[in-house]
Amino acid sequence: MYFPRYRARRTRKNENLRRMVRETHLRVDDLIYPMFSAFGENIKNEIPSMPGIYQHSIENLVEEAREVHALGIPAVMLFGIPECKDSVGTDAYSDTGIIQRTIRALKEEVPELTVITDVCMCEYTDHGHCGVIKDGDVDNDSTLELLAAEALSHAQAGADIVAPSDMMDGRIAALREILDDNGFSHIPIMSYAVKYSSAYYGPFRDAADSTPQFGDRRSYQMDPANRREAIREAALDVDECADFLMVKPALAYMDIIRDIKERFELPLVVYNVSGEYSMVKAAAAKGWIDHDKVVMETLTGFKRAGADLIITYHAKEAARLLRG
Ligand code: PBG
Ligand code: ZN
Repeated sequence: MYFPRYRARRTRKNENLRRMVRETHLRVDDLIYPMFSAFGENIKNEIPSMPGIYQHSIENLVEEAREVHALGIPAVMLFGIPECKDSVGTDAYSDTGIIQRTIRALKEEVPELTVITDVCMCEYTDHGHCGVIKDGDVDNDSTLELLAAEALSHAQAGADIVAPSDMMDGRIAALREILDDNGFSHIPIMSYAVKYSSAYYGPFRDAADSTPQFGDRRSYQMDPANRREAIREAALDVDECADFLMVKPALAYMDIIRDIKERFELPLVVYNVSGEYSMVKAAAAKGWIDHDKVVMETLTGFKRAGADLIITYHAKEAARLLRG
C-alpha cells in the first residue's frame, strides 16, 4: 500500500467522503456549561477576562439555564459567590447558602436540566483556600468533614451530581459514605480526579472570587510535570467509587486525557478551563484567529484525545454551531 498506487488524498476529495471517514464526532450531549451564581438581585456582571460569561443572581441564572436547556445541552456545573465568607466556609454547607438556593430555583424552573455542583471550599473561605487552614497549610482530614457536609447539603437541595474539586486525599470515600448514609446512594460523584496546579485557572478566580489570599495551591493540586501520578490519583478515586473521572485543565494535558482513557473504564470528563477560553477570546478579538473554527477544532481535539464529556464556557456557542 504505497504511493503511487495508494493515495491518502482519495478519501478527502469531497465533503461526503470526508464525512464517511470521519473518526470523531462532537455532539451537544457531550457538553457541560459552567455557571456562576452570585448573591443578590439583578446581578449580571460580565467577567472582564471571560467575555460572554457572567456572574448572575439567581433569577438571571435561571433565565440563562432555560437557554442552555433549549439548546439541548444536558447539564450545567454550578459555582457560588456567597454573601459572606469566613475561615471555615460556612455558606458552602448552609441550607440557605447561595448554591443550595440556586439548585432549588433551577430544579423548580428547569427541572429537566441536570445540575452538577462544584464541591469545594475556596469560593466560601475568606482566605481563598480549598479547605481549613492549620499551621499555614490546608488540613486534609478536617476539610473532609466540611466537604462531606457540603456535598450532602447540595444533594438535599436537589443536585443531580456532586463534583469535588478540592484535591484532598480520601474525599471520594468521604462523600460516598455521607451520601449513602443519608438516602442519596443514587447520586453520582464526578471526581476532579486529576487536577493540576495551573496558571490557566487565573480568569476563573476573578469570576468566582476565589484567589488564595496567601501562598498557592501546590500543596494539594498536582504538579504539571507529573504523568504517572495522574494514574495513581485516578486509581484511588476509582477504588473510592467515583462515577466519573475528570482531567483538568484540558489543552496542555492531552497526553493525560489519553492515559486515563486507556486505563480506566469510567466516563471521562475534561475541563476546558477559564484561561483556555480567555486565550481564544483574546486572539479572536484581535482578528488573529477564526473564533468558531478554533473552538470546534479544540473541542473535537479533546474528544479525539479520549474525552467523553467536556466542561466548557464555549458550550452554548458550540451547541449553536453544531446545529448549523
Ligand atoms: C475550585 C475550582 C477551580 C476551578 C474549578 N473549580 C479553581 C481553582 O482550583 O483554583 C477552575 C476552573 C476554571 O479555571 O475554569 N477548586
Ligand atoms: Zn477550591
